[in-house]
Amino acid sequence: MAVRVIPVEPFDLVIFGGTGDLARRKILPGLYRRFTAGQMTGESRIIGAARAELTDDGFRDMVREAIEEFVPADRRDAASVADFLQHLAYIAIDAKGTSGWEQLGRLMRPGMVRAFYFSVAPALFGDLAERLHQHGIADAQSRIVVEKPFGRDLASARALNEVLARHFREDQIYRIDHYLGKETVQNLMAVRFANILFEPLWKAEYIDHVQITVAETVDVEGRGAYYDKSGAMRDMVQNHLMQLLCLIAMEPPYHFDPSAVRDEKLKVIRALDPVKPEDIVRGQYRAANGGGSYLDHAENPESITESYIALKCHISNWRWKGTPFYLRTGKKLRARSSEIAITFREPPHSIFDDERGWRENVLVIRLQPNEGMNLMVMIKEPGPGGMRLMQVPLDMSFAQALGEVAEDVPDAYERLIMDVIRGNQTLFMRGDEVEAAWAWADPIIQGWEGRGDRPQPYDAGSSGPEDALMLMHRDGRRWRDIR
Ligand code: BG6
Repeated sequence: MAVRVIPVEPFDLVIFGGTGDLARRKILPGLYRRFTAGQMTGESRIIGAARAELTDDGFRDMVREAIEEFVPADRRDAASVADFLQHLAYIAIDAKGTSGWEQLGRLMRPGMVRAFYFSVAPALFGDLAERLHQHGIADAQSRIVVEKPFGRDLASARALNEVLARHFREDQIYRIDHYLGKETVQNLMAVRFANILFEPLWKAEYIDHVQITVAETVDVEGRGAYYDKSGAMRDMVQNHLMQLLCLIAMEPPYHFDPSAVRDEKLKVIRALDPVKPEDIVRGQYRAANGGGSYLDHAENPESITESYIALKCHISNWRWKGTPFYLRTGKKLRARSSEIAITFREPPHSIFDDERGWRENVLVIRLQPNEGMNLMVMIKEPGPGGMRLMQVPLDMSFAQALGEVAEDVPDAYERLIMDVIRGNQTLFMRGDEVEAAWAWADPIIQGWEGRGDRPQPYDAGSSGPEDALMLMHRDGRRWRDIR
């Protein structure tokens, strides 16, 4: 089996911020991979646009270096890199002024899909939208792509939505949450809605609780200034973990299409209860196990920004009333491990005398690394002498089940950029979704800011702060190990 590649229509893609970090790390290497996979056809062109005075060749050199740095050696070769670079051009442009715009307008070709990637600070979104419009560069079919952070609270997210809406319709705006582009995250929908097995049990009546973990080993090095103003809640929970929660909790959409999927996600976000202060644990890593402290990278040496957060939330609707969702994410933890664990309830009645080996059924969906699924089920302990129970895993690793093809799947950015060209918004956040997520997050953040809460220290390389364990223990539950 091979990964199926369906070429997209020819396009002109302009990357504002084309010399920036995201362009170098993700967007341009991702486009190269799609080019070598045959998905980006020969007529397509990528135009880097940024403030720096660069020639086309200067930009191509930069992109070559980026590919060498960020695409593994066995996935690239000099000939295809040289071919790819022929599709690149560069324009020095002033987002707030006039220089470069007419030249950009002249480069745009009729009949091509036009997409504009705003890989710049959100403060420039309005200027770019305005200039594209004023110079007649964007047409009614053009698409714009914007990155997170989409605002830092409800008011700023609304303001961004308004600025973009002045010149673009909602169906032209692609708000990226790269978690939605991950293969295993989309698999959540396939597992739920393409099998009859789980959905009948997918409700509070049968599910005791859900754990969503996104644990990282990286620190905030190099991004201290951004991160310190953001923290784990804004950086990860309001967007990535929220999206995971939505995919687990939403009702089946009537069809796998952008409106249907996003309508259902929005209903989940709106049904989230406010989170009580006692259901939140914030942490900040300190030097330990050979790793440095958060404060080494923060701008403010007395920063009280959280690099870890755990919280318990409830969804007030018929399906989920009574099933808590525990979310946690942090930097500089023991292992990189993202997973969703769904713990089922006890059977209503036991027919066995010896129940000592009994454990709950747990469905674990491993998002990264070692993508796969694991269903913990009860069987009879082998041997004579009566019926005793034990738990075993029904374990499936996608790498094993799918073979080589699993290594060949596009990464999140590659897939999402191709979806932009195809005009498919299913895996992008709609404006109302982002606003609803902020409307839920704002009071939580304001709560601890108002109280001046300090995060709890936790050791670099550990599983997070002690109180996060208590958050579960006091409900008679425990977190799964981070490993
Ligand atoms: C980004 C956050 O959106 O996601 C980072 O800003 C985080 O802080 C990253 O490290 C995690 O993404 P991934 O794909 O490595 O899980």
